[in-house]
Amino acid sequence: MTGFTLHKLHRSLGAEVRGLDLAQPLDPTTRDALIEAWLEHMVLLFRGQELSPETQRRFCENFGPLGERSRKADDRPEGAGVEHEMLVTNVRRDGVPIGSLPDGEMYFHHDKCYVPVPDWGTMLYAMVVTDTGGHTLFANMCEALETLPDDLRSTIDGRRVLHMYKYHPTERVELEDDIGRHDHCWQPAVVTHPRSGRRALYINELMTALIDGYSEEESCGIRDALMAHVRSANVIYEHKWKKGDLVMWDNWCTMHARTDFPPEQTRMLRRYTIRGQALTA
Ligand SMILES: [Fe+2]
Repeated sequence: MTGFTLHKLHRSLGAEVRGLDLAQPLDPTTRDALIEAWLEHMVLLFRGQELSPETQRRFCENFGPLGERSRKADDRPEGAGVEHEMLVTNVRRDGVPIGSLPDGEMYFHHDKCYVPVPDWGTMLYAMVVTDTGGHTLFANMCEALETLPDDLRSTIDGRRVLHMYKYHPTERVELEDDIGRHDHCWQPAVVTHPRSGRRALYINELMTALIDGYSEEESCGIRDALMAHVRSANVIYEHKWKKGDLVMWDNWCTMHARTDFPPEQTRMLRRYTIRGQALTA
């Protein structure tokens, strides 16, 4: 008995989990069943949750040690979250955002693909949501790979790609900038998921700067063709947030994006991540 039921959110990925109060401790059987469901569906949604930072952190720790923040604590504004916690919000104090990633649209990306040990999962809990916009799109990168036309697949097969982090939500990376100023890492273009063994396309539009063996311009063209394929392959679930939603996603086999939202509306979510491991082809 696991005490929950699963309800698919999209034909390709995502499932809503009903019947669990995440503020309560999980028994090992339920936890193992959730991990199995997560590996299968890649994105899990739990509606109507009431979570403090402590209970959210404790739920996250069921799946492994917490991931580290990129931005050092001393560099964060007051209230932006302590230790492993991140506030994703456009709330400002004296004109300065109190959290991270405050405004508008964000292009597709994998969290932490630009470090040698990318986080496995991200958990986002909705505290204040907008009336319109601010949705999160999730793409199934296993199915995106499986449906890739042969000619496009052969351009990236066996290659490595350079991922680089830039803060601005829609700004693509520019290599003429000093690369040393940004976190960056070479990763396989196609990764094997360490838990499920499934292969996934590991290229995204926000952070992938270069494909090994191609010029910056050629890399950009291949990346755009790959993203066009993902958008046309019916592998994207669009999540419209409600207050009390907790969504957990797998960063090794999905990428995600955020739609624009009215700047005058408040949006506030609390994020923890689950530490991962180095990825191989
Ligand atoms: Fe993200």
